[in-house]
Amino acid sequence: MHNDSIPVITIDGPGGSGKGTLSRLLAKRLGWHWLDSGAIYRLTAQAALRNGVDLGDIPALVQQARTLDASFGESADGEASVFLQGEDVTAQLRTEEAGEAASRIAACPEVRDALLQRQRDFRQAPGLVADGRDMGTVVFPDAALKLFLTASIEERAERRYKQLKAQGFDISIDALFREISARDERDMNRSVSPLRPAEDAVIIDSSAMSIDEMRQRALDLAREKGLVA
Ligand code: DC
Repeated sequence: MHNDSIPVITIDGPGGSGKGTLSRLLAKRLGWHWLDSGAIYRLTAQAALRNGVDLGDIPALVQQARTLDASFGESADGEASVFLQGEDVTAQLRTEEAGEAASRIAACPEVRDALLQRQRDFRQAPGLVADGRDMGTVVFPDAALKLFLTASIEERAERRYKQLKAQGFDISIDALFREISARDERDMNRSVSPLRPAEDAVIIDSSAMSIDEMRQRALDLAREKGLVA
């Protein structure tokens, strides 16, 4: 069941802008649900790769999107976890390879269409914080508060580098820089739902902000909208 009167905060922006961390913190603070829409694209791509589906085969991709057996939960230590057919695939989904495959299939309008309702179904009481590329423009255009996070490519590559390093991945910062630039290029220039701020979005450059400062700024804006006491 979904309900248009349930409040939504959207946080869009490129990879590494801090939107994932911020949206999760905000959802926790408000006691609202959280939608990591990037994970849905990553899962669809992962399911396709597992089932030997060519990433250029649109009807087969749409079928994967429609029948995606995904669930979201938390690991024992409270980390957000994503499951594909009951298997915890969180670590696999975080790789740049999974992001690249997700970005490729995300450029396909039929795949986006097939995933639209699945994303809207996350709108449940008491509220939803939705993180992605087109949350404010396409999926929840009536959101009560729309944020668009940006950060320089250098800063985003640095953040991803630290994140992946901490997870034990061995990757060069130059390779990350190139991958992030290529992914930005594709996400911003695709014809359907390109990455861009909604007209009524508040743009926040997070390059020089700590996560705590971002959280404070988002909470202040939510307070101004009467979404939090
Ligand atoms: O946020 P992320 O890095 O997990 O997203 C992975 C890819 O999925 C991203 O490169 C583009 C795509 N995506 C999208 O097109 N629309 C969304 N709402 C979220 C992600």
